[in-house]
Amino acid sequence: MRSVYFDHSGTTPVHPEVAEEIYRYLTKDNFGNPSSIHHYGRQIKVKVAEAREKVARALGADPGEIVFTSGGTESDNMAIHGAAITNKNRGNHIITSAVEHHAVLNTVKALGKEGFDITILPVDQYGMVSVEDVAAAITDRTILITIMHANNEVGTVMPVAEIGKLAQERGIIFHVDAVQSFGKIPVNVDGLGVSLLSVSGHKIYGPKGIGALYIRKGTRWRQTLFHGGSQERLRRAGTENIPGIMGLAKAVELAMKNMDAESSRLRDLRDKIIRELTAIDGVRLTGHPVLRLPNHASFIFKHIEGESLLLSLDMKGIAASTGSACTSGSLEPSHVLLAMGIPPEEAYGSLRITLGKDNTREDVDYFLEVIKPIVERLRNMSALQEEVV
Ligand SMILES: Cc1ncc(COP(=O)(O)O)c(C=O)c1O
Repeated sequence: MRSVYFDHSGTTPVHPEVAEEIYRYLTKDNFGNPSSIHHYGRQIKVKVAEAREKVARALGADPGEIVFTSGGTESDNMAIHGAAITNKNRGNHIITSAVEHHAVLNTVKALGKEGFDITILPVDQYGMVSVEDVAAAITDRTILITIMHANNEVGTVMPVAEIGKLAQERGIIFHVDAVQSFGKIPVNVDGLGVSLLSVSGHKIYGPKGIGALYIRKGTRWRQTLFHGGSQERLRRAGTENIPGIMGLAKAVELAMKNMDAESSRLRDLRDKIIRELTAIDGVRLTGHPVLRLPNHASFIFKHIEGESLLLSLDMKGIAASTGSACTSGSLEPSHVLLAMGIPPEEAYGSLRITLGKDNTREDVDYFLEVIKPIVERLRNMSALQEEVV
């Protein structure tokens, strides 16, 4: 049976060149600790500096503004918690949106329990935050705005450059979670006007458990989560994940080299999926029709459960995902879809297709051929169940 992976927003396979790079830094003479004085350590220190330079260049940043972390979740936590605690003598108001990843939303909510005043902005039907809403929410007490660049569930690309301009004019720290956008669309820290920006390795064919946080020089931010050694210039304690850092830098290098060609190739495949699926009765696109990630197509299938659709596709060798998250045994509809005004019963019928480097036109044709009879069968089953009830 054909095996098709359509869940690249979930994670990506490690690129073979990245895997080679990681292996190189696990073995032989390259296993040193960059804090060591001897040549094993010094040699690795130079390599880490080169890796930092590569990541910085891709973001339009200075190497000194990049801190390596264990991934997107840690970067988000470090950015938000650090900015909030460092600035609490200036104000206690934080602005975010209802469609953020839980790494942001739950960090902000936790700060809410510690006495910070939280504004969670609504989004429109496309999952888009409005710049006017951000402007209206700002008060004299606002110390931090955190808005994602592209949404993981519906692919919508937010107006972060405009929000960044606003934040800069008002002297407010602006954090952007760019975990889904980095490597797929241009992410430039000056263009977006950000103070802090999170990226993750495993979304761009790098390894899991590595990421980076950009911290603009001069930002009133300090590390507040980890106590330990003075690694990463006191911004992230703990011996560096050298194979991860080297793998991340290689993944970034490859992503930058391939981004333009790959984006337009995937956009074509994505648009074919969107055209053909939305032609099916009761199927509609979620997220913005134009301002969306080039590899991202997400849908609501009326009268179908996303889980059933996923399992049926999986039986045909196709791996996709749904917006529902399985939380402690009970299936909750996606907070993103609910925030977009989609009723819970419809939010259960969501499907997310996120394309990547190994996907071909044949994969897309196979998927489109397979999904139509599945939809028909599941709809017939749910109609039968309704009759029985
Ligand atoms: C938008 C967004 N932010 C943060 C994360 C968390 O990143 P990581 O898995 O590297 O912790 C994800 C992962 O799905 C994400 O999609």
